Amino acid sequence: MKEQIQAQFKQRFGTDSVVYASAGRINLIGEHTDYNGGFVFPGAIDKYIMAAININGTDKVRVLSMDMDAYCEFGLNEEDAPQEQWARYIFGVCRETIKRGGVVKGFDTVFAGNVPLGAGLSSSAALESCFAFALNDLFNDNKIDKFELAKIGQSTEHNYCGVNCGIMDQFASVFGKKDCLMRLDCRSLEHEYFPFHPDGYKLVLLNSKVKHELVDSPYNKRRESCERVAATLGVETLRDATYTMLADVRDKVSDEDYRRARFVIGEKQRVLDVCDALERGDYETVGRCMFETHDGLSRDYEVSCEELDYLNDVARECGVTGSRIMGGGFGGCTINLVKEERYDNFIATAKEKFNRKYGHEPEVINVIISDGAHKVED
Ligand code: GLA
Repeated sequence: MKEQIQAQFKQRFGTDSVVYASAGRINLIGEHTDYNGGFVFPGAIDKYIMAAININGTDKVRVLSMDMDAYCEFGLNEEDAPQEQWARYIFGVCRETIKRGGVVKGFDTVFAGNVPLGAGLSSSAALESCFAFALNDLFNDNKIDKFELAKIGQSTEHNYCGVNCGIMDQFASVFGKKDCLMRLDCRSLEHEYFPFHPDGYKLVLLNSKVKHELVDSPYNKRRESCERVAATLGVETLRDATYTMLADVRDKVSDEDYRRARFVIGEKQRVLDVCDALERGDYETVGRCMFETHDGLSRDYEVSCEELDYLNDVARECGVTGSRIMGGGFGGCTINLVKEERYDNFIATAKEKFNRKYGHEPEVINVIISDGAHKVED
């Protein structure tokens, strides 16, 4: 990909360029816990957004998206974000860097990627982190710390894309490390790397290719539910809530909000249980927790859909160790931990049954846990 985007860059802008990359992510467990101050357990993957960049000596940014064959330019002193959604990510990263006292000057860029879009693998965080990292390297002597780079991406989502997301995706994309998952405490941002070599198992994603329209922004609504319950409990976030506390306010919150909070409280604990189990090499417990997460996301948090529930059922039938919907939900992938000897049968069965029911096969995505944002050296 590097050679291709550099060649495109040369053709379009006539100069050489430097190349930066940042990764999509998986999350083994800990969904919708980040904006509740809880724990998550993600890792960066070998699917990237890459950008070839060169400083252009103006106050303008000129961007070519290779995958979309679309071009956009904007001024660094303009208040108004571009109309094109994909360009808003880059505009947002520039603005948020400047807002934090960072330097950004005009540049030309061509970018492309192989993070599947709308699959719950955080292609947008990869795009944000790629540019946040690049602007830090090109204009700021790498003086902006990595936490701030992740927050630049997160604020871009909040202020330019209308998604009140947590910090998980951008954190994973910036801090990712080869062969390691990261347990991140989203309240303190303390994190620990866990080498992840599930010997005898494979980790595979099945992309339903379903993208449900996020009408009325259901993601933000989930977050609002959690915040309402936290306010009723008098705590800052649901990180500080327990089942007992929740039971005490049962009649003060709506049934829907109650179920949302019940999921989050359980999920917070499951991340810790999975980390302990991994240290013991106890993949059965890891898998059981994954199924519990799926059930909670489907029934209490209501971010699953028929197709993903079906993939989860097929995984159970095939004796998969653990399976669940991954990411924000409303479509996208399941993440599956499967014993090597059951892998072929699981994949063949899932493809065949899903195709029969929904008219297309799920896409099989194998991932390698990889490094996060970096400069791509020659
Ligand atoms: C999306 C958001 C993350 C996180 C997940 C759900 O990916 O961007 O911040 O909330 O959903 O765990």
